[in-house]
Amino acid sequence: MIGMLATRTSTRLESPPLVSMRGVTKTFANGTTALAGLDLDIRPGEFVSLLGPSGCGKSTALRLIAGLAEVSSGHVEWPLSRSRDPHAEIGFVFQEPTLMPWATAADNVWLPLRLRGVSRREAEPRIADGLARVGLSGFGHAYPRELSGGMKMRVSIARALSVRPKLLLMDEPFAALDEITRFRLNDDLLRLQRELGCTVVFVTHSVYESVYLSNRIIVMAARPGRVVAEIDVDAPHVRDESFRSDPLYAELCRRTSQALHGAMSPDEHL
Ligand SMILES: Nc1ncnc2c1ncn2[C@@H]1O[C@H](COP(=O)(O)OP(=O)(O)OP(=O)(O)O)[C@@H](O)[C@H]1O
Ligand SMILES: [Mg+2]
Repeated sequence: MIGMLATRTSTRLESPPLVSMRGVTKTFANGTTALAGLDLDIRPGEFVSLLGPSGCGKSTALRLIAGLAEVSSGHVEWPLSRSRDPHAEIGFVFQEPTLMPWATAADNVWLPLRLRGVSRREAEPRIADGLARVGLSGFGHAYPRELSGGMKMRVSIARALSVRPKLLLMDEPFAALDEITRFRLNDDLLRLQRELGCTVVFVTHSVYESVYLSNRIIVMAARPGRVVAEIDVDAPHVRDESFRSDPLYAELCRRTSQALHGAMSPDEHL
């Protein structure tokens, strides 16, 4: 599964964004301002990470993009979408695999299609393809309790991809996994992005993970949630194990780490 990852789709900085957030503020009923004046453009083919301390509004930003919550002010626009509902073109992967325990892996992958009225029989090729892409051919009949944490996350990714999303939103998907499994899933995710040509917005707490995966890292600060730095990962698009020991990777991790420290309030350094 691990191997050389070929050149990723190049992203032209001047191309129009797939999704554009302008002056987005989100204040909850209890008065908490989770995001204040967020400006963020995500361009087609990009892999963008949102990195920042707990409470800086990363999950809120993803939920606003997915249409799972509404902005208090500002706009979320889809300049390129011809669909009446751009949210239908989104796949969402949560930190927990959130699989239905009573359903097989295949039935879990079917769920988003089922909700769109696709029968199990019609969905079968998509389900098989999805499971194969995440390396789980032959596990369609397995129940979640029979799968490891990494395998459950793979099912969750296959489920998100079953609708062939243009945009994949991932909220700390690998945080609960051991490092080896996480590295493997990192490589597989880059391969999937290349194969499917989708755009990814990825939330993580890990500087190393963000540098390894991204074209661009958005560093956020809390209280209120806002963008404080943007780092272009100006590295070759080939990302594999050798990139982890590349001096350029170390330098980018150092810069990103510095930006993250700058984003944290003094009490968060304790
Ligand atoms: N439904 C809600 N009602 C009230 N406050 C909320 C709600 N959801 C989030 N918040 C608050 O909004 C802020 C941003 O939360 P959010 O979950 O987006 O942060 P995050 O960056 O994803 O944090 P973490 O890294 O811990 O997941 C926090 O102060 C949080 O307490
Ligand atoms: Mg969160």
